[in-house]
Amino acid sequence: MTDTAPAAPAYAGPARVLSGVQPSGALHLGNYLGALVKFARLQHEIDTFIFVADLHAITVWQEPAALAQQTREIAAAYLAAGLDPAKATIFPQSAVPEHAELAWIFQCVARLGWLDRMTQFKEKSGKHKERSSVGLYTYPVLQAADILIYKATQVPVGEDQKQHLELTRDIAAKFNHDFAAPNFFPQPEPLIQGPGARIMSLRDGSAKMSKSDPSDYSRINLTDDADMIATKVKKARTDPEPLPETLEELATRPEADNLVGIFAALDGRTKAQVLADYAGKGFGTFKPALAELAVEKLAPVGERMRTLLADPAQIDAILAAGAQRAREVAAPTVAEVRKLVGFWGA
Ligand code: TRP
Repeated sequence: MTDTAPAAPAYAGPARVLSGVQPSGALHLGNYLGALVKFARLQHEIDTFIFVADLHAITVWQEPAALAQQTREIAAAYLAAGLDPAKATIFPQSAVPEHAELAWIFQCVARLGWLDRMTQFKEKSGKHKERSSVGLYTYPVLQAADILIYKATQVPVGEDQKQHLELTRDIAAKFNHDFAAPNFFPQPEPLIQGPGARIMSLRDGSAKMSKSDPSDYSRINLTDDADMIATKVKKARTDPEPLPETLEELATRPEADNLVGIFAALDGRTKAQVLADYAGKGFGTFKPALAELAVEKLAPVGERMRTLLADPAQIDAILAAGAQRAREVAAPTVAEVRKLVGFWGA
């Protein structure tokens, strides 16, 4: 007996990135810097699949008359942020029905105890769990199917999705084990931005910028025009002190920290570099500079979104072509899964 286990053979498939955003509300600066810009960067480095998570969106009520347009808006935001349909595969989740099929099989792999631990369900269902949709509960299982159907190896997500990635890894491991298919599914890794890079509310430096915040002044929407962007920056909550010299001091002032972080992210610099320029200066100087930068970087994104949305047929053609490419990868995975499970005709 040796005390070292034989090295498990590693997953040998290609590296692939997958992520998605739900079409359940307007996108804001936090989504742009935390997700969209990152997706656009990754498409140059690695095979990238980015979808609109409309199956996930209907876990809470969505107006049928609005849903397709909401899906186009997310697609327009992807394109406006620089995702290129010639590089990345961009598609609506519901246009690839294999996601739902694999999700069912995974519902029979995942254990109730695993889902009972999911903190996002507890938050989203609140006090009235028994009135939530069953889909809201099994949401993370569908997410595992989204990821594993493309055998994605890297998944850019926010900190709040880390637990869903762990569940995805557990489902992959149990499927591979139960169906005696070692390394059939990879163990996907989350690509998570550091907590310091999170974009917080403009009204409260301790809350994440969110589309569900009742105050529109808490966030900069991607569709805000130049005047609105500048107004929101100038109205952002701050403290009366000038900006500090060090990151340690900055960290004790959540609102100041957030605005410096936004400046840094928009300018492609570090917070330390921004402080080097603005230490000792008050918000009377810093806010107009930030407003100018935000308008310069974001107003053209909103402008591109509006131009794209004026031609829905073009967006639809891009989504249809993306869905076709996605199905070319998803369908063979599901065909193999059907064989492994032992279904008739597989
Ligand atoms: N749950 C993710 C979110 O709310 C969206 C999502 C659905 C997703 N399926 C995914 C993200 C698969 C990454 C991979 O942010």
